[in-house]
Amino acid sequence: MRYTTHMTLPAPFSTLRLPVIGSPLFIISGPDLVIAQCKAGIVGSFPALNARPQAMLDEWLHRITEELAAHNRAHPDRPAAPFAVNQIVHKSNDRLEADLATCAKWQVPIVITSLGAREDLNTAVHGWGGITLHDVIDDRFARKAVEKGADGLIAVAAGAGGHAGRLSPFAIVQEIRQWFDGPLALSGAIATGGAVLAAQAMGADFGYIGSPFIATTEANAEPAYKEGIVAGRAADIVYSNLFTGVHGNYLRSSIAAAGLDPDALPEGDLKTMNFGGGNGSKAKAWRDIWGSGQGIGAVDRVESVADRVDRLVAEYAAARARLGI
Ligand SMILES: Cc1cc2nc3c(=O)[nH]c(=O)nc-3n(C[C@H](O)[C@H](O)[C@H](O)COP(=O)(O)O)c2cc1C
Repeated sequence: MRYTTHMTLPAPFSTLRLPVIGSPLFIISGPDLVIAQCKAGIVGSFPALNARPQAMLDEWLHRITEELAAHNRAHPDRPAAPFAVNQIVHKSNDRLEADLATCAKWQVPIVITSLGAREDLNTAVHGWGGITLHDVIDDRFARKAVEKGADGLIAVAAGAGGHAGRLSPFAIVQEIRQWFDGPLALSGAIATGGAVLAAQAMGADFGYIGSPFIATTEANAEPAYKEGIVAGRAADIVYSNLFTGVHGNYLRSSIAAAGLDPDALPEGDLKTMNFGGGNGSKAKAWRDIWGSGQGIGAVDRVESVADRVDRLVAEYAAARARLGI
């Protein structure tokens, strides 16, 4: 079964096997993960900042573009899904202009923007025929992003890994769908095919899945982190702004291992946020403190991306059958 996208969705999404975007994961997502996700039929993505130094981004985009083109030549019956590059639009990101120029060179099909919404960036991506998706934690930011020219939105709800929102997924999707009929992905604790179908039933076009892909063979994470995702459940997730200045979800065991009390963390400081091209404090913090969403109770093993996506596809079909649709 191949999932057929909604008529109004832009062309890049027409080749998806399942309505899923593998979300960008700081440090964890690189070419191996992205290529495996795209070949498995879901959108793969990575933060541009994972390619260090900046010149590495050109090599990564070269490799991803060539390997996906080769896959498409060999398998015209099951073409790869498009990939996305995540740009952190924050004043501390001193690589943004250089990274955008590299994305322009490779005509990256989808650019995911986080934190700031910028009109000139959207215009630049449209210039090479790409589309932009902007991630937001509430309706106010969603409206701002669309005003600035974002083509689509990612609603980051409570329970998401990394910088999570506070709203129920029902609340945020309902509000956005009152005025926006473009591409909409839902992020936060989606870890089964049934949950992907639920996101669609709510009004989203895609499930945006992060943490379950940490526990895959292609993820750039140490074995203990992958096992932590497998062992962890929602109760093991701590919501704190200590590590980057913005509230996010983390695995309790990694906080304790760093010598901190997960139940008594001090408040963080927004001024410490650093997305610079160097090995900034954020990189250090995220290497020791493991980000994760609340959905990992559904992850019971480390496996290949292909196997994980097959499982999601089977669960999605079973959920449809259960509902008789
Ligand atoms: C370890 C980790 C790192 C992340 N890094 C980024 C990032 O660099 N850029 C970004 O836009 N989102 C990042 N996210 C958030 C994800 O894109 C996505 O919103 C989230 O993982 C979805 O929730 P889930 O993990 O419950 O599936 C990160 C999430 C995790 C768990």
